[in-house]
Amino acid sequence: MFRPFLVFSLVGSVLIGLVSSHSESGEWHCDSDAENRIEAEFKPGIITVDGHADDWSDVDGFEFSLLPALDPDFDHEYKAGKMTVKALHDGADVFFMLQVDGDYAYTKGESKKCPSVALMFQIGENASYHNMGGCPEGTDSCTNKTCRGHEVDIMHFSIGTAIPGRLYGGNPVDSKNGNGADSFGHLVDLYAWNPHCRYLDGPGPAGNDSSAQNNWKGAWWHSSLIVHSGFVEEDSPYASDGKKGTYYFEFSRPLRTMDLLQQDAQFTIGLTSKMAVAFWYPVDKKPWYGSQHYSVGCDWVPFDIVSSKALLSSLGSRSSWDAGSAFALLFSVISLCVSVFVGYWVVSRNKSVPFTPISNSNL
Ligand SMILES: *[C@@H]1O[C@H](CO)[C@@H](O)[C@H](O)[C@H]1NC(C)=O
Ligand SMILES: *[C@@H]1O[C@H](CO)[C@@H](O)[C@H](O)[C@H]1NC(C)=O
Ligand SMILES: *[C@@H]1O[C@H](CO)[C@@H](O)[C@H](O)[C@H]1NC(C)=O
Repeated sequence: MFRPFLVFSLVGSVLIGLVSSHSESGEWHCDSDAENRIEAEFKPGIITVDGHADDWSDVDGFEFSLLPALDPDFDHEYKAGKMTVKALHDGADVFFMLQVDGDYAYTKGESKKCPSVALMFQIGENASYHNMGGCPEGTDSCTNKTCRGHEVDIMHFSIGTAIPGRLYGGNPVDSKNGNGADSFGHLVDLYAWNPHCRYLDGPGPAGNDSSAQNNWKGAWWHSSLIVHSGFVEEDSPYASDGKKGTYYFEFSRPLRTMDLLQQDAQFTIGLTSKMAVAFWYPVDKKPWYGSQHYSVGCDWVPFDIVSSKALLSSLGSRSSWDAGSAFALLFSVISLCVSVFVGYWVVSRNKSVPFTPISNSNL
């Protein structure tokens, strides 16, 4: 009786979820896949943020179709392949690896003729995936007061100025200026209330706050690149144009940051956040424009930061080991008591048997 009811209520809640996302707003149409999910397990000490994916081989990935973000229609899916997202945490930092097939495209200094990726996370409880937080105010009226609760956190990596395998993102120069810029590449830390009210961490419509930082680090790679001691800018474009292969984008960020302004998502071990992943590619060698990107879903994807405790209990090994060893201990105590008693009983019964010196026995 219980099971069918559970199944029905699950199906029911999935249907309700789909219906409510359908009616999100006007023309917006989203058939969000209720199974979509990204998990970051606790796996310390295996990842180096260098753009290479071999150290991720033992980490399960989550695979997503890439549909146009503004018109999530399967007819316009990114044709070269799906995106695999892997994540893990080491107790202090969270790590991401994004893998997507794509012919090698690289034009130095022109990020719109290179692939690009972004991650977006919910900060404010009322921030929607659709419209980057969904604050209804325009550019002249959005402020941290009028858009309170609609904050989203964004990391955007454009590789046109980034050497493959090198680390970009947070650095002392930009952190000294108190903002989320990246003067050495273009791996920036942003926040937004909607697509038109989008800023680097720190600056805002009411002035610049000097307490912000770029908390992200990241690197990129393509499988057609030849691994050697390291590239420099002169090696650009690093590999030959149009070579088949896979792009890799790897990132890390502390679970918690020193943000005071609701401009960074804060992650907690054992809790679920909401995230999205965007991908730009110069299809047919045509430069992309800002809103022309693919997305791994048409709504937030739940993002679990899994506690190592949850992993242990899900294996079920710990509790059964405890029960088994308790039983073994009890059993051995009982056998000890029984053997002591039997020994005592034998000795006391044989008390009357005279002691026979060994010399008297017939050897
Ligand atoms: C989110 O929206 C609800 C309902 O409109 C409102 O009660 C709540 O205060 C909002 N949260 C924030 C942080 O603004
Ligand atoms: C705020 O920062 C931006 C870029 O970080 C800069 O261009 C602008 O001049 C700054 N504004 C003020 C008022 O300091
Ligand atoms: C809004 O931003 C201004 C300028 O950065 C800051 O002084 C103020 O404390 C912020 N208010 C809230 C509610 O975050």
